[in-house]
Amino acid sequence: MKKEAQKHGKFSLKILHTCIICSIIGVAACNNTASTPKDNTATDKDVAGVYVPPDTSTIPHDPFGDMVRYGRELVINTAYYIGPNGTVGKYLGNKMTCANCHVDGGTRPFAFNYFSTHARYPQYRGRENKILTLSERVNNCIERPHSGIPMPLDSKEMVAIVSYIKWLGSNVPVGQHVKGDESLEIEFPDRAANPVKGGAIYAENCASCHGKDGEGAWNADSSTYTYPPLWGKYAFQKGSSPSRVVKLARFIKANMPDKKATWQKPFLTDEQALDVAAFINDDRIHERPQKKDKTIPDYPNFAFKAIDYDAGPYIDTFSALQHKFGPFKPIVEYRKAHKQQVIW
Ligand code: HEC
Ligand code: HEC
Repeated sequence: MKKEAQKHGKFSLKILHTCIICSIIGVAACNNTASTPKDNTATDKDVAGVYVPPDTSTIPHDPFGDMVRYGRELVINTAYYIGPNGTVGKYLGNKMTCANCHVDGGTRPFAFNYFSTHARYPQYRGRENKILTLSERVNNCIERPHSGIPMPLDSKEMVAIVSYIKWLGSNVPVGQHVKGDESLEIEFPDRAANPVKGGAIYAENCASCHGKDGEGAWNADSSTYTYPPLWGKYAFQKGSSPSRVVKLARFIKANMPDKKATWQKPFLTDEQALDVAAFINDDRIHERPQKKDKTIPDYPNFAFKAIDYDAGPYIDTFSALQHKFGPFKPIVEYRKAHKQQVIW
């Protein structure tokens, strides 16, 4: 932990220097800084070297800027526009918003943000075993966590969402990652994640907002959620990224309970985050929507299957149950020893 802080300290100095030079010579495309002068003040975020997306006040007033603004609207008020009763199209199967998971409209560090997303697509996706464009990846989330039907790739809404994601990552070099665009790391305990312990953590720290039965809480006119559901028929689908225990635990560590946890100061320990993610994703006690088209299996090339995906076959010898709940260390060690990919 101390070592990590020192590392950030050094990094921040370098970033700060770069920023000062950038602002003097007026380089707009300076990585890790926004292009407006007021964003050049050193906040906690950029001191830690984390990517700072441009400020919304800098969205240009031209046709592209209009698309960016509409895309941001769609990401934040998704159900209103494209939900089951959507005003411009009926694509989603539930009333969640993109921003329920891509927190703050995809601008929060370590919260499934879109910092480097545009810079990294098209890319190979193991689950489909093919190269997906960014628009196809957006449809992945519409079909899976949202249990919806894909939007036409050339629809105004799709173009708007992709434009917004591109604008957010304006300062990210093509093909690169930036600090803060992935989830916080989790240190694995020697034991499996424990859904029973997770249930107790949930009751104490999560149920007040997400509900005793994980059902979430509607907003005033039930058009979307004040607190999104975590399981049940309107929650994210089985097989979608958040239905994987490690993927979810890493998000929870940095972001939940809301208003209490931050990536700089997580509220739960790594073990507790894993336990509560195991509880949420335990199919023996919680139902959630299933993939509609089962004719195409996920991860047809299972060498690229995420370790915490909970259905075999696998390239290693561990059970589906161990892949779901752990202990994860032996799987990682086995894979390394056999020169197999370690994918989360
Ligand atoms: C229930 C949670 C959830 C909802 C709702 C959701 N997503 Fe996602 N989305 C995820 C997760 C988890 C990932 C994988 C992130 C990772 O691997 O770090 C993801 C990944 C993505 C990616 C790829 C990001 C990258 O950098 O590779 C895009 C693009 C995306 N989502 C767009 C959307 C859009 C647009 C919506 C709304 C229509 C949406 N998502 C709704 C959870 C969600
Ligand atoms: C004070 C209310 C509050 C508490 C307490 C809280 N959350 Fe959340 N949670 C939210 C809100 C609001 C969102 C939507 C994202 C945002 O706006 O921050 C969210 C989003 C989520 C999501 C992603 C969206 C989804 O529905 O799948 C998960 C997972 C989650 N919370 C898990 C937890 C867990 C686990 C705990 C307890 C450790 C917890 N939350 C405690 C308010 C809360």
